[in-house]
Amino acid sequence: MSADPIPLELDQIQSGALRARPSLYAGTYILLRIDDRRAGREVLRLVIPVLASAASPTSPAGDAWVSAALTFQGLKALGVPQDSLDSFPEEFQQGMAARAAELGDVGENAPDKWEKPLGTPDVHVGLLAMASGAAQLEALLERARAAYQEMSGIKVIWRQDCYVPANHREPFGFKDGISHPAVEGSGIPGTNPKERPIKAGEFILGYKNELREISAIPQPEMLGKNGTYIVFRKLHQRVAAFRQYLRANASNPEAEELLAAKMMGRWRSGAPLVLAPERDDPALGADPTRNNNFLYNADGDEKGLSCPFGSHARRANPRDGLDFGDVNIHRIIRRGTAYGPLLPEGVLEDDGADRGVCFCIVGAHLKRQYEFVQAQWLNDGIFIGAPAQKDPIVGPNDGTGVFTIPTKPIRRRLQGLPQFVVTRGGEYFFMPGLKALSWLADLDT
Ligand code: HEM
Repeated sequence: MSADPIPLELDQIQSGALRARPSLYAGTYILLRIDDRRAGREVLRLVIPVLASAASPTSPAGDAWVSAALTFQGLKALGVPQDSLDSFPEEFQQGMAARAAELGDVGENAPDKWEKPLGTPDVHVGLLAMASGAAQLEALLERARAAYQEMSGIKVIWRQDCYVPANHREPFGFKDGISHPAVEGSGIPGTNPKERPIKAGEFILGYKNELREISAIPQPEMLGKNGTYIVFRKLHQRVAAFRQYLRANASNPEAEELLAAKMMGRWRSGAPLVLAPERDDPALGADPTRNNNFLYNADGDEKGLSCPFGSHARRANPRDGLDFGDVNIHRIIRRGTAYGPLLPEGVLEDDGADRGVCFCIVGAHLKRQYEFVQAQWLNDGIFIGAPAQKDPIVGPNDGTGVFTIPTKPIRRRLQGLPQFVVTRGGEYFFMPGLKALSWLADLDT
């Protein structure tokens, strides 16, 4: 493997861009509106000293972790010069709500139904604070509150708590956070020994990418270099509806678990279907050295008999099973976690609680990474030869969704899929490198 000619400036990249989050944590997303650009810059000055860099696994905030990012409206509110604003990619300038048609955010997912202020021009700064537990998190927030409450010219307009449930599962009950790409030159390993590291420029601006080029980055270079984009989505999960669907389409509890696994591509334990096609293997699911050590074609599943082509995980990263195109230009780093109370085991009726995931994606190319995966792989089935079939778990199905399970001698076709995941809102953020944040804080426009 040839080394990247430009070494990654890990000490300038925010830790949240490359490093995995602590395995158990309590976190909170905070959104700010900047009413006075000088106050906005002052907030950045306060935040910069507590931000961790990707160079070190430790944080200057002790057992707490903070990340900071800005929307396009936020960069404007800070007084970033127009020629610099113009150098950001169009989809970022437009913001997520304006991309609704491309992203399938229509019907129940439409921005006019989003939780405010998500999707409005008021969202300027996004902060994520994480700590090892709720008490440590509150202590950190108390310190921060004391600082910003003194300030006029900025306003906290939204807060959403999230956490890693004790069982490490997302609200539908699946182990999550298993598959991560390795990033070349970062020294931070991926989780699949059978995948090669992805070029750093796919995730961090200013470096060579999988197209063997350094893409244009926001200008001046001081601002763009070592930054990346963050896709944030608050995704509500209809857990009771998911359980009811499994119950209605399977004859017994074992068949329900198999159906759930076929829809996800993994058993709830995390064991991948390719390596455990017939029954769950919880020891495999729990073993980080084995639970992502597979490809599709190379491991004998060209026909999808173990893991359906239409399952969530296989669509989201087809690995070596993609018939055309280059899978590595559509890779993303995922950092989601749960919000809201889990629905107790066995409950089939909705209790009305808001629960789901605060979904976060890191990538240097919003259009060909997140937007492509969402629009072409999750919401459309052309690439798997079934144009009308959307992702069975996260796709915008409407009660008429179809999911095919390749089986011998005759495939099984499930009908009547409803929508299990509803977009509650989201934003595109630019996560600047550390020098870039200082550049922003020092603007004198
Ligand atoms: C509520 C919504 C979602 C849930 C509950 C969910 C759940 C999961 C789970 C349980 C896995 C398997 C575990 C793992 O590999 O880490 C997974 C994998 C994955 N998901 Fe999602 N997901 C959701 C939405 C999305 C969205 C919106 C995208 C992209 C736009 C996405 C992209 C991926 C990718 C890329 C993988 C890894 C596939 C692989 O490398 O094998 N997910 N998801």
